[in-house]
Amino acid sequence: MKKDYNSNYLQNTESLLIELKKQSYAPLLEIEQGTVADIGCGTGDDAIRLAELLSNDVKVVGLDHDPQLIELANEKLAQTSLENLSFAVRELDAVNSSEYRFQGIRAERLVQHLENPEQIINTIHALLERDGIFLMVETDWTGLNLYDSFVQTQKGLVNYLTEKKVNNGLASRNTIPLLKKAGFKNIELFIIPFVLDNLEIANMVIKLEETIAEAAEFGFVSHKEKSNYLVELRRLNDDGLFRCHMNMLQIQAVK
Ligand SMILES: C[S@@+](CC[C@H](N)C(=O)[O-])C[C@H]1O[C@@H](n2cnc3c(N)ncnc32)[C@H](O)[C@@H]1O
Repeated sequence: MKKDYNSNYLQNTESLLIELKKQSYAPLLEIEQGTVADIGCGTGDDAIRLAELLSNDVKVVGLDHDPQLIELANEKLAQTSLENLSFAVRELDAVNSSEYRFQGIRAERLVQHLENPEQIINTIHALLERDGIFLMVETDWTGLNLYDSFVQTQKGLVNYLTEKKVNNGLASRNTIPLLKKAGFKNIELFIIPFVLDNLEIANMVIKLEETIAEAAEFGFVSHKEKSNYLVELRRLNDDGLFRCHMNMLQIQAVK
């Protein structure tokens, strides 16, 4: 499986996405008993915050298939006095309803990495109790927009992101049909736009320059376009005119 994040990356994006994250917890905070999962929980910060916000009658479970990330999550958990939170290493395909039943499931920037999204959406549906809530936060790679004149190069960059770099790069657009097919109801969609106004931050959050270079390696943009574009982006940044606009999507649904 292609993997393009590590604990440093997750920690860096955490601070930028904090407001969006906090906003995304709201529907789950109405849950008064049972278990809430943060799946693809990474280093565990969202699960920790959910456990802090929910009453002690609600258990929170953070699941991720990466043992190193779960180890870091457990180290953070050990610094708290939370009694309603646990983490476990799990491949989502392998989780079944004899082990877990959830009142709520949250998944942030997970679905875009799945090679088998339909199967996992069906698994999520099966793991939820009746009227349970599924809430996902996703990057809308298709809507990545840089405010410069290199429009064709940007198209190549977006094609590289959605067709090659990210396993399920169209997750922000393709998941609602899968939710409907799985039997979810009351599907809601919220768009949360944000602007990165500095190239260094864009490199941190979306690895912009590295990704443009990769797009050239894989033939999505020419090497000449790549070189010109990298020069232009640095020039715009030096002039205080670099702007990168992206949308995050919050999609929620009820079983
Ligand atoms: C981009 S990270 C997002 C982490 C976290 N949700 C956050 O917002 O900081 C995606 C996470 O999903 C996990 N993941 C991807 N595919 C998975 C799978 N099939 N089963 C379990 N975890 C998975 C990865 O290990 C990683 O921690």
